[in-house]
Amino acid sequence: MSNTSHASDEILHIGIDLGTSRSAVAASNGRRNWVHSYVGWPRDFVARRMLKRDVLIGIDAIENRNSVNLVRPLEYGVIRDGTSTDEKAVRELISHLIELAQPEEGQKIYAAVGVPAEALRVNKLAIRNAVGEWADTLMLVSEPFAVAYRLGALNNTCIIDIGAGTIDFCVMHGTMPGEEDQRSLRTAGDHIDQQLFSLLSERFPNSPLSETFVREIKEKYGSVSEASNQFGVRLPIAGKFEVHDITEEVHRACDSLVPAIAETLIDLLSGYEPMLQERVRNNIYLAGGGSQIHGLAKAISSALEEYGHFTISPIDDPLFSGAEGALSLAQDMPEEYWESM
Ligand SMILES: Nc1ncnc2c1ncn2[C@@H]1O[C@H](COP(=O)(O)OP(=O)(O)OP(=O)(O)O)[C@@H](O)[C@H]1O
Ligand SMILES: [Mg+2]
Repeated sequence: MSNTSHASDEILHIGIDLGTSRSAVAASNGRRNWVHSYVGWPRDFVARRMLKRDVLIGIDAIENRNSVNLVRPLEYGVIRDGTSTDEKAVRELISHLIELAQPEEGQKIYAAVGVPAEALRVNKLAIRNAVGEWADTLMLVSEPFAVAYRLGALNNTCIIDIGAGTIDFCVMHGTMPGEEDQRSLRTAGDHIDQQLFSLLSERFPNSPLSETFVREIKEKYGSVSEASNQFGVRLPIAGKFEVHDITEEVHRACDSLVPAIAETLIDLLSGYEPMLQERVRNNIYLAGGGSQIHGLAKAISSALEEYGHFTISPIDDPLFSGAEGALSLAQDMPEEYWESM
């Protein structure tokens, strides 16, 4: 798949997965990396003096949140409000991701960028502007399509990408997916965090909980009730650390995604001819960070029991599959699909 000709050394192919919470990059020189999708600018003169830099990206920005104006530009997968700050932040994020790929001096950059389906619909121009500054040629593709390409699952399949801001569905039937092949739900990982936060705050009113702490619990123990595992965490209750079993709260928060996923899947599939529906049902893949919730695939199939049998599997390597897919697309795509910047 990769180019080994002399010309390929003059070109660095880069695949980028631009996400609400995390963005990843994979390049034809073998490098891959990811960052939290946060950008911060020092708040004032003192902050700039202390931080000794003009812009902070990823964990660096998060850790210095008190000294920077922190922006998470891709809320719900869309450049928020289309304000110039968000656009500027996306620009910084892209520049940083390309730097992480370490292009050589003078190398041309061919970037394929996977963006949430919704962003592609609403905000194509803003994203193109943000990326265009750093790339010689550019291709924007919808995120689930990049994942499908990575899996080689281009026919009779459905990808369900469970991210932070959105869950994106995409049915593949052997061609580039169109709008009618895609759906987007605005209840995803962030929604689970909010649910878990309020369930735990209700039960432990004397424990100071933070969004980050709750998200960490979810990422460690995330599971649906079908998974029937049990776990406890150490919580500071009125200043004293105690271990509490919070299995039920975590299960309830994670279960909350299941009905909407099942419903949207049925709604999307019902538009296809029966033969295609049958085939797709047995090739459903869960992608994105949320696909790592234990028991989720099984819970979705159970919720769909009355509609018959479904085969749903979480993919391997959910953190990089979007960026790797975009990279493969960048390497395989004929000239006419590229836009010169
Ligand atoms: N092990 C895990 N178990 C459960 N959830 C997880 C796990 N790891 C990450 N997540 C959640 O997955 C979400 C991030 O996934 P991902 O990186 O695919 O999203 P994104 O691409 O940034 O968002 P979007 O696709 O909405 O733009 C977050 O809500 C995160 O908390
Ligand atoms: Mg994503």
